[in-house]
Amino acid sequence: MKQNFLNLSDLGKDTLEGIIENSLAIKRPSKRGTSLSGKYLAMIFEKSSTRTRVSFEVAMNQLGGKASFLSVDDLHLGRGEPVEDTARVIGSMADCVVLRTVNHETQIEFSTYSTCPTINGLSDLSHPCQILADLLTYYEEKGPIEGKKVCWSGDFNNVCYSYAEAASIFNFELYVACPEEYQPKDKDLENVTFTESLEEALEGSDIVTTDVWVSMGNENEKEKREKSFLPYQISPTNLDKANEKAMFLHCLPAIKGQEVSADLFNDKRSKVWTQAENRLHAQKGLLLELLK
Ligand code: CP
Ligand code: NVA
Repeated sequence: MKQNFLNLSDLGKDTLEGIIENSLAIKRPSKRGTSLSGKYLAMIFEKSSTRTRVSFEVAMNQLGGKASFLSVDDLHLGRGEPVEDTARVIGSMADCVVLRTVNHETQIEFSTYSTCPTINGLSDLSHPCQILADLLTYYEEKGPIEGKKVCWSGDFNNVCYSYAEAASIFNFELYVACPEEYQPKDKDLENVTFTESLEEALEGSDIVTTDVWVSMGNENEKEKREKSFLPYQISPTNLDKANEKAMFLHCLPAIKGQEVSADLFNDKRSKVWTQAENRLHAQKGLLLELLK
């Protein structure tokens, strides 16, 4: 039976932990293998991407398979061919599809009609592949995340939604420091605390993470957001309020001078480059799980 990955909760804790452990094992070049030989990954992107696109392409390549990047403008999808028809056709030829979409509904519709697994490579709702790499990065550097505290500073966006799912699955505390008007209406999420106080969220946290204030699709609110989120910038100084062994993560791309101070990525506590590289290893673990 095919297994999709539209949200982190599509896979159970054991499977996610298995992917993380396998990703770490195959991070070693000697373990790369060619276990996806003959497999084909189609990648349909409605939005820009650097890390997601390249990591999936390289992952397929290093595992002996093939991947093609298909921008919507090059597909008939961009000229109005229905998502359902596109999903039926590509699903009948490919072994797996990565989708980056404006609307999460497109992910659900595509996965309904595609006979091969659909991976959400980011939607307006969630970004599960990113959190898989973040969990892998924490696991690799510090060990299990259970019982730890994560501080998210800024917008409750797609990446933060996937953190909230992870908090419930992996049983850690997520503090979301965010202006009230950008917090979700339904705040009743397991292991998630919303606060306007960055100090409260930072205090004793094991991971400090943030993302851009203006996600793709929010450009029309740019000025307002840049003002509202100003108190939520992460700098080495406010990182001092976290646990002394805390790590800083950012999914990237970042805007230095906004959600992160210009010097933050040079701080020893920043693991953003390991985290970015781990997108590759996490995608491999995920592909091997879904295509096994
Ligand atoms: N973090 C992330 O998904 O980056 P890209 O938008 O470059 O894929
Ligand atoms: N929240 C950002 C993440 C980019 C990887 C966006 O959706 O633009």
